[in-house]
Amino acid sequence: MTTALITGSTAGIGAAFARRLAADGHDLVLVARDTKRLREQATELHDRHGIEAEVLTADLATDEGIEAVAARLSELKNPVDLLVNNAGFGNKGRYLDVPMADELRMLKVHCEAVLRLTSAAAESMGTRGRGGIVNVASVAAFVPRGTYGASKAWVVQFTQGAARDLAGSGVRLMALCPGFVRTEFHERAGMGTDNIPGWMWLDADRVVATALSDLARGRTVSIPDPRYKALMGVVKVTPRALLGGVTSRTGRRYGPQ
Ligand SMILES: NC(=O)c1ccc[n+]([C@@H]2O[C@H](COP(=O)([O-])OP(=O)(O)OC[C@H]3O[C@@H](n4cnc5c(N)ncnc54)[C@H](OP(=O)(O)O)[C@@H]3O)[C@@H](O)[C@H]2O)c1
Repeated sequence: MTTALITGSTAGIGAAFARRLAADGHDLVLVARDTKRLREQATELHDRHGIEAEVLTADLATDEGIEAVAARLSELKNPVDLLVNNAGFGNKGRYLDVPMADELRMLKVHCEAVLRLTSAAAESMGTRGRGGIVNVASVAAFVPRGTYGASKAWVVQFTQGAARDLAGSGVRLMALCPGFVRTEFHERAGMGTDNIPGWMWLDADRVVATALSDLARGRTVSIPDPRYKALMGVVKVTPRALLGGVTSRTGRRYGPQ
């Protein structure tokens, strides 16, 4: 029996990870801010799959929240074998429209928490010679898209670098880069999604299935859909200056409003 810790487990992609890992027989540590929702989720997964599900209420935008989760990842008695750094959110508006406090909160959750939790998990997993870490980024990492894209670009670069440094340690790291996924993300940020074409939407359960199979294959970056893989192939060969203009125009036309 192995244990997986998922941040942002109560909704969207995190909830899909929790469902799939519980169905596969893994015990879980569920992390988010809403204790009531976490408890309901833990009970449901325990009843349905017979696994143990711990609840850890933590706000990853605070030092105390990050430290509480890092401490759980360092526990030797009930070690965590798989960490999914998934918690995240969007801020509505362009650069300078978004209050600085919200931009800083995003960097804390998307970058600082991911760094500190990855490090706590990797140290503990390294001593046991096995483990996996999935850091949820986004295809926004590959295009110039404000603080959100920049924070996800950091997640990809950091994960790839750390994966290289930890090669041979038994600890696998992978950045997961989905396109648009139907979750609570856009509604929570107050973003309308009417302009996003239907073909661009991905299903969270499928994203998770591809992510776990890519992790098992030893990939360090997973783009879990052929359509987005093809799009990112084009993005890679497009000059950055041109890319900025194109993504800003298409983002305004087809992106969240
Ligand atoms: N949906 C997309 O189109 C999409 C695309 C690419 C990448 N992503 C990335 O996928 C990840 C998950 O997003 P999602 O779409 O599944 O979003 P979601 O449905 O809004 O779920 C977000 C989860 O994160 C938790 N969370 C938010 N802020 C937190 C904080 N400060 N501390 C602890 N937990 C926090 C939420 O629970 P509480 O509110 O209870 O804390 C919730 O469980 C994010 O990193 C996002 O950037 C999403």
